[in-house]
Amino acid sequence: MADERRPILIAYDGSDCAAAAIDKVAAEFAPRKVVVLVVSEELDKVPFLGTAGVPVEAETMELLTDAARKGAQEIADKGAERAYGLGLEATTAVYEGGPVWSAIVEAAEEHDAALIALGARGLSGVKRLVLGSVSSAVAQHSKRSVLIVHGS
Ligand SMILES: Nc1ncnc2c1ncn2[C@@H]1O[C@H](COP(=O)(O)OP(=O)(O)OP(=O)(O)O)[C@@H](O)[C@H]1O
Ligand SMILES: [Mg+2]
Repeated sequence: MADERRPILIAYDGSDCAAAAIDKVAAEFAPRKVVVLVVSEELDKVPFLGTAGVPVEAETMELLTDAARKGAQEIADKGAERAYGLGLEATTAVYEGGPVWSAIVEAAEEHDAALIALGARGLSGVKRLVLGSVSSAVAQHSKRSVLIVHGS
C-alpha cells in the first residue's frame, strides 16, 4: 500500500458516481498511476440473445461482440482522459465476461493494485440503495483495500 509504484485500479462504467471516483482519486493521490477498467459482460449472458434466447448467427454475434468491445474501450478512454486531465498517469483496461465484480477483483490481482476505487452506485442508480451490487460485492470479495466514493 505504501508502494507508490503500484497503480490504483479505478472501476469505471461511465456513470456520475464512477466519475466522482476518478475525481476523488485525483484529489487524494495525483500524480499516481491509475488503471481505468471497464468490464463488458459477455453478450451470451444477455437474456434475449444467443444460446439463452433468440438464436443469433455466429457472424452477427461477432459483430455485436466487436461493437460491445469498441463501446467499452470508448468508455475507458473517456475515463482515462478525465483522469489524465486531473493529473493522474492513466492507462486503460477492458475485461470481458462477468460477473462484473469478479472481473474487477481479478484485474486488481493482475495489476497488483494498491487500491481499488469505485463509485457507490453506477448506471442503474437505484437511488434508495446506498451501494450498488458491484460496489458491495467488490468490497466483500477483494482482499485489497477498497475506496467507495459517494457522488454529491
Ligand atoms: N461494468 C463495469 N465496469 C467497471 N466498473 C463498474 C461496472 N459496473 C459498475 N462499476 C463500478 O461500480 C460502481 C457501482 O456500480 P453498481 O453497478 O454497483 O451500481 P448500480 O448500477 O447503481 O447498481 P446495480 O448494477 O447493482 O443495479 C460504479 O460507480 C463503477 O465504479
Ligand atoms: Mg451497475
